[in-house]
Amino acid sequence: MEKSSQTGTRGQWGSKIGFILAAAGSAVGLGNIWKFPYLAGKNGGGAFVVVYILIVLLMGFTVMLAEITLGRHTQLNAFGAYRTLRRNWGWVGGLGVLAGFLILSFYSVVGGWVVSYIIKSVTGVLSQSNPELFGDMFGTLISNTVTPLLYHAIFMGMTLVIVFRGISGGIEKANKIMMPTLFIMIIILSIRSVTLQGASKGLQFLFTPDFSQFTARSFLDAMGQVFFSLSLGMGCMITYGSYLRKDTNLPQSALSIVLIDTSIALLAGIAILPAVFAFGFEPGQGPGLMFVTLPAVFSKMPLGSIFAFIFFLLVLFAALTSAISLLEVVVAYFVDQWKWSRAAATITMAVVIYLAGVPASLSMGVWSDITLLPGLGFFDTYDFIASNVLLPLGGMLLCIFVGWVWGTKKALYEITSGGRHAFGLAPIWVFLVKFISPIAILIIFIRSVAVIFQ
Ligand code: PFF
Repeated sequence: MEKSSQTGTRGQWGSKIGFILAAAGSAVGLGNIWKFPYLAGKNGGGAFVVVYILIVLLMGFTVMLAEITLGRHTQLNAFGAYRTLRRNWGWVGGLGVLAGFLILSFYSVVGGWVVSYIIKSVTGVLSQSNPELFGDMFGTLISNTVTPLLYHAIFMGMTLVIVFRGISGGIEKANKIMMPTLFIMIIILSIRSVTLQGASKGLQFLFTPDFSQFTARSFLDAMGQVFFSLSLGMGCMITYGSYLRKDTNLPQSALSIVLIDTSIALLAGIAILPAVFAFGFEPGQGPGLMFVTLPAVFSKMPLGSIFAFIFFLLVLFAALTSAISLLEVVVAYFVDQWKWSRAAATITMAVVIYLAGVPASLSMGVWSDITLLPGLGFFDTYDFIASNVLLPLGGMLLCIFVGWVWGTKKALYEITSGGRHAFGLAPIWVFLVKFISPIAILIIFIRSVAVIFQ
């Protein structure tokens, strides 16, 4: 563990690239590899991609910069950051901590499924099966009572070990190993995918905009996906920004993170969709795409079990680097606000979040009849409350806070490190953070809540 965490002072990133890799590691996750290709599949391929990129540049970058700035200025966790600037705004950061808690509880269940698929790819189960049986295989795994809970524990255990070791010695180190490896693996898979016979159909699909399939709903899907994928709206980037040194160039860092995340989402689309098309499968299959369609695709490929292994290892790395950021949001809160030691906060919260995830796992099987919100079991309720309610609400309040309460003048002073770094886009950023982003996010939020209660 880092010395600093034992002496009670907060940790710090060891290098600028360390921070960028860690923040990009948080952003690149299941959202990129599993959800982005399937959303593109559902919403008119290239049309979705174009709109997604526009929203990333306009709102994703804006909110990313606002969050990192708030974190670096206050050098505190999400709750503490708001509270030190305006006492009665602490609860907004508190909602973020709660969102981190909820997201990690079901994210870790899915992370556990990924661990199980890595083992399946090593033991040869994936190459031997008849492709039609993959649906049953997945269903059997997730609806089982004990097995997924064991994998959930393994995934949470890995997350715990990394966060326990502190900012530069744990989180930064892990990201420095996993992120470059992830990048190499996704390049290998993309090359394999686009060189398959019949791959061009998939590429065409991904890059030819078909706006007839693009509805108002697709627009909202894109906006929600931008937030989730960039880890925005819950104080994750406030927390990671709080470990930054004062001399880092914030606009440059925010832009790098946003570009890395978007490139990996596109590469995931390139690695997945052409292969799916080449073997005659359907792209718009939703959640089953990663665990059902892809193993079937791999089983038909020469040396498929090796590519399956690379793929699931890639997904594991992506999921782990996001999970550690989620746990860090919660741990930082207890370390800063309650003066817990990093060790105590990490172990306690990992156990509590693990336990909160148990009903989410069971809701895929024995508890599938229990609903918390109309039609939604534990897993889907956690996901809905966090991703569709807490994240957009958090993002909107963040913009209002930085744009109107703390004020863009003070924010710009921090962004430019007191005038040391140029920020030519300042007037545009101010306009986006004050007006466009909060209004656009309000729209996602209203729609999300309306969908469930209509
Ligand atoms: N950005 C992650 C993904 O795309 O899977 C998920 C996530 C991580 C959301 C961390 C929010 C967060 F704070």
